[in-house]
Amino acid sequence: EANERESLYLVNEFASDYFQKNLFKTDQGQAIGLSYFKERGFTNETIKKFNLGYSLEEWQAFTDEAIKKAYQLDYLEKTGLTIVKEDRKFDRFKGRVMFPIHSMSGRVLGFGGRILGNDKKAAKYLNSPESEVYHKSKVLYGLYHAKQSIAKEDNCYLVEGYTDVIQFHQTGIKNVVASSGTALTPEQIRLINRLTKNITVLFDGDAAGIRASIRGIDLILEQGMNVKVCSFPEGEDPDSFAKQNTLEELTIYLEENAKDFIQFKASLLMLDAKNDPIKKAETIRDIVNSISKIPDQIKREIYIQECSRIMDISENVLFSTLAQINKKEV
Ligand code: CTP
Ligand code: MN
Ligand code: MN
Ligand code: MN
Ligand code: MN
Repeated sequence: EANERESLYLVNEFASDYFQKNLFKTDQGQAIGLSYFKERGFTNETIKKFNLGYSLEEWQAFTDEAIKKAYQLDYLEKTGLTIVKEDRKFDRFKGRVMFPIHSMSGRVLGFGGRILGNDKKAAKYLNSPESEVYHKSKVLYGLYHAKQSIAKEDNCYLVEGYTDVIQFHQTGIKNVVASSGTALTPEQIRLINRLTKNITVLFDGDAAGIRASIRGIDLILEQGMNVKVCSFPEGEDPDSFAKQNTLEELTIYLEENAKDFIQFKASLLMLDAKNDPIKKAETIRDIVNSISKIPDQIKREIYIQECSRIMDISENVLFSTLAQINKKEV
């Protein structure tokens, strides 16, 4: 219902302002939250641009303040900012630095809250629960700040995390959004597809993560988009890499390391299969399956030729495999 949605936005926007005020204006916020962001290399300008904040290390500081300002407990609970348990109220994000998640038009849909330091016992990031205004699978973090630049550059960088988006902005690359750690959904891809047909997926630099991400990329091909991928040195992610490099260095790195997705996948999986004929056969089917998702026939044909070379198998076999896959899908 429209009225209720508006109330949830207002609660989230109050919270966003409140968390930001904590960060800059309280001793605890400055000592813990602000110094954390500074250590990550974020400037005040960047922090303000993304409305980053801090939730005090107290059980219900936010909830008390919101109720004092006449926000209804019902809405505080529905946004997930307050957890109500047996008549007791808790701030969900107690003691975390806060990343508001904006809609394409800049409304606050929800939050990600990061624990300070690297305590392995608690979840590193807590996120707002699903609500009438926050549907995780339909949101891309950073889209509000990136949309103009995505259209202008006619390309979108897709990263995993909040800090990757923010560090890229600070370094000077603004056409970047994050899937926020979950598998990419068709709705998320559609948001990008309206602005550009070109996506460059940036992987965190760990081999397992890359192999896990690859499957989801077929969904991007299905929407007729051109996909490149780029990985970073082992142990680095876009955030840590951008932090250590200038705009010029980062730009050169991306230009030199972004590879066409199908070629990348074919090379990587063939390397995995080594000389195992059965694995090799599976790999070939897997690649042709990705190619079969591409709506454009000319592109499909070009990729078959490419992959024939990379995988050292005849184009004929690849074309007939493609035909088989197409038949199964009808
Ligand atoms: N994520 C999450 N919950 C977790 C871990 C991760 O929601 N427990 C999401 C966050 O959106 C995070 C993204 O997945 O930004 C990528 O995860 P990861 O690479 O582990 O985190 P980073 O963004 O690199 O975070 P940081 O640099 O702060 O450690
Ligand atoms: Mn990761
Ligand atoms: Mn990461
Ligand atoms: Mn990181
Ligand atoms: Mn930098």
